Amino acid sequence: MKGLFDLSGYVTIVTGAAGGLGSEMVKALAAQGSNIVALDLIEPPFAAEIEKQYGVKCLPLVCDITKQDDIHAAVAKTIDTFGKVDALVNNAALYGGLTMKPFQEIEPEEWDRVFSINVKGTWQMTSAVVPYMMENNFGSIVNISSCSILQGVPLLCHYVASKGAVWAMTRTMANELGQYKIRVNSITPGYTLTQASLQLAGSKEAFEKNYQRNIDDRSIQRGMMPDDVIGAVVFLVSDASAFITGQNINVDGGSVHY
Ligand SMILES: NC(=O)c1ccc[n+]([C@@H]2O[C@H](COP(=O)([O-])OP(=O)(O)OC[C@H]3O[C@@H](n4cnc5c(N)ncnc54)[C@H](O)[C@@H]3O)[C@@H](O)[C@H]2O)c1
Repeated sequence: MKGLFDLSGYVTIVTGAAGGLGSEMVKALAAQGSNIVALDLIEPPFAAEIEKQYGVKCLPLVCDITKQDDIHAAVAKTIDTFGKVDALVNNAALYGGLTMKPFQEIEPEEWDRVFSINVKGTWQMTSAVVPYMMENNFGSIVNISSCSILQGVPLLCHYVASKGAVWAMTRTMANELGQYKIRVNSITPGYTLTQASLQLAGSKEAFEKNYQRNIDDRSIQRGMMPDDVIGAVVFLVSDASAFITGQNINVDGGSVHY
């Protein structure tokens, strides 16, 4: 009998796959047997390693999720290669490249850039994939939001608002797609040790201060690592969550008891 978390034969698209959390998600999904389409602004470099280690196929592609042409080319290549898409993990986002500042000082252009990637990009990517899921009456979509929306993290208003939109969009998509047996859920990861978090903080000292404050706030008092989020991703992609849709899983060691 197939295990609840077994993803053998699946085809999963992961956006932002070259990043800190994205690359861990790819490994975890491949370890459960899923073939992977790994999308990012640069071609994710780990395809051969994933294929060798997990015995699945890994297709790495350049795809900017703000560009419709890139998205449609990536989805077409996925269908040419595998004939279907079972799951989509919307992980790509503008996060590390941002500067923390009071909301009234955010430039309108920066606000628009955050929304065009984090919100519009997620919507565009999902819109391009769902017709193929509808054909098969099957699919799971996992949107990566952020625990910052529950904490009301200061000095990052555009990012927090964009991740709140991702969370809200998840519920509407779930309601529209349930009739096709396509599930849509989100995850709100806590503050995680990645290059992007280091870059966002601006200095090692600022990062360590934020990191420690987050640890102090948690029920489980330790730093969050990229692989802390992978269990929730595998669960939501797999049949283990077959009757769960429109929900959010907060993975943050209990800083927010949501
Ligand atoms: N690290 C954290 O503390 C944390 C906490 C909560 C949520 N998150 C979310 O988790 C996800 C991954 O975060 P991370 O820390 O690994 O950051 P990251 O910056 O390393 O990963 C994001 C990836 O998205 C890619 N990307 C950016 N713009 C893109 C575009 N237009 N098209 C395609 N790809 C694009 C980047 O190249 C990068 O590889 C993001 O959605 C982030 O908002 C991170």
